[in-house]
Amino acid sequence: MKPTIAPYPATRLRRMRQSPALRALARQNTLTVDDLIWPVFVMDGKDTETPVASMPGVVRRTVDRVALAAKEAQSLGIPAICLFPYTSMDARTEDCAMAWDSGNLTNQAIRAIKDVAPDIAVMTDIALDPYNINGHDGFVENGEIVNDRTVDALVKMALAQAEAGADILGPSDMMDGRIGAIRAALEADGHQNVAILSYTAKYASAFYGPFRDAVGASSALTGDKNTYQMDPGNSDEALRLVERDLSEGADMIMVKPGMPYLDICRRVKDSFGVPTYAYQVSGEYAMLQAAAQNGWLDGEKVMMESLLAFKRAGCDGILTYFAPEAAKLMQT
Ligand code: PBG
Repeated sequence: MKPTIAPYPATRLRRMRQSPALRALARQNTLTVDDLIWPVFVMDGKDTETPVASMPGVVRRTVDRVALAAKEAQSLGIPAICLFPYTSMDARTEDCAMAWDSGNLTNQAIRAIKDVAPDIAVMTDIALDPYNINGHDGFVENGEIVNDRTVDALVKMALAQAEAGADILGPSDMMDGRIGAIRAALEADGHQNVAILSYTAKYASAFYGPFRDAVGASSALTGDKNTYQMDPGNSDEALRLVERDLSEGADMIMVKPGMPYLDICRRVKDSFGVPTYAYQVSGEYAMLQAAAQNGWLDGEKVMMESLLAFKRAGCDGILTYFAPEAAKLMQT
C-alpha cells in the first residue's frame, strides 16, 4: 500500500516543520539516557585521575575513582558502564596471564562498582591486548595471531570477569569461535544470566588511534590488526558475522566504529532485528572535541546530533565517551 502524495500545493512538507510542537509530533527517533553505555579507563593507584591527551575531557581513573564515576553515572540514569584497563608494562607478557587474573584491574573495578553502584550494569572488554607484550588481541606465534589457543584464553578471561560480577561481557578480539566457547563455559560454570555483547562487525580502523593512547597500546602494537578485524570495504561479511554470533549465543551485537559505518548498523538491524549497538569510538570523539575546542563546531549540538544518528540508523544504544555529558544535557 503506497501512501498517496497529493501534488503541491496540497502537500507542503514544510507544514509539519513549522513549529517545535509539530516537529515533536512528527519526529521518528529520539535519544534518551537509556541508550547510553559509558566506556571508562581504569588504572593502578589510589584517588587519582590522569587526562588522555588525544581525548579532551576523558581521564583514566584509579579503581576507587571508577567506583565513584559509576555511582554518578547510575544517578544520571546511565544503564551501563564499560571498563578498559590501562595496564602497567610489567602486567604485559607473552603468555598474557594477567588477562584472567581475578585481581586484575578490570576485575577489581567490577567488584568496587558493585559495592557502591549495584544497579548500573557493568560491561567488560574481552581481548588479550592490554596484557599482551606485543599489543595484539590474540597470542602471537611466529608473527601470526593464532586463533584457537587465543579462544581458550578468552574463555578464562570471560569466566574471571563473570566471577567478579560482570553483567555484560564484550568480546572485542574478533577471533572465530569465541562467542560459542564463552557461552558454553558460562553455562557450564553457573553464569547463565551473564549477557554477551559481541563486537561482531569490528573493522580494522584508524579511528581507534586515541584509544590506543588511552590504554597505552600505541607503542606496544607491532604491525596491524588486519588479519582479524574486518576490511573497511566489506558489508555482506558483517551480516555473516552477525548470523554466526547469534547462532553461537550472543545476546547483543555491535558495529564498530560508529559514524563511518552507519550503513552497516542499518543493514544489520533490518536483517536481524536483534539488540544492536554502535561504538562511537575514540577517533570520532576526538574529531568532534577538537573541532569544538577550536570553535569550528558547536560541541553540544554535534554531540547530540551524532548520537541521534545512531538511533535513526537502527541502533538500540551507543557506547560513547560523551555518555555523562549527554545524560546531563538531557536532564535539563
Ligand atoms: C581492543 C579494543 C579497541 C577498542 C576497544 N577495544 C582497540 C583496538 O581494537 O585496537 C577501541 C575503542 C575506541 O577506539 O574507542 N580490543
